Amino acid sequence: MLNKRVEEALNAQINAEFWSAYFYLSMSSYLAHAGYPGFSKWFGVQFKEEQDHAQIFVNYILSRGGKVTLKPIAEVKTEWTSPLNCFEETLAHENNVTAMINNLYSVALEEKDFATQSMLKWYIDEQVEEEKTVQDTIDNLRLIKDNGFGLYMLDKELGARTYTAPAQLSE
Ligand code: FEO
Repeated sequence: MLNKRVEEALNAQINAEFWSAYFYLSMSSYLAHAGYPGFSKWFGVQFKEEQDHAQIFVNYILSRGGKVTLKPIAEVKTEWTSPLNCFEETLAHENNVTAMINNLYSVALEEKDFATQSMLKWYIDEQVEEEKTVQDTIDNLRLIKDNGFGLYMLDKELGARTYTAPAQLSE
């Protein structure tokens, strides 16, 4: 049986993951409209991954006999100024998500919920990966600045990203 405090924190995280998905779908749409199909596709994959993150929490709560409570998803912005602006805001957002996951882990520790601690390890590793990928792209974009050819090439490179379902959802 799932501890109530852990259950509440997990449900809050489901909402945060769906908000992330919504945020990235909005960025993907902005970038497509601005003429960057590759960056748009990259954020489209990000959109799918965030939905997966939410689904894994849903499945986990249910597997522990808990109750899933879905709350409204807050509005997201629709305009940015450049691809660099999108990736900078993505890094700031992912830093917040990392803090949320760490906080969730602290709750699981305090409540001596070892199964939740074990499940959260995948998210902790995932956040390291997310932050690194986004930071690398920011570094590239800062190097390129307004160079059209550089932007064209990076857009092509990031557009090659493909979606793969995480192991937890792939059976
Ligand atoms: Fe669900 Fe981008 O972290």
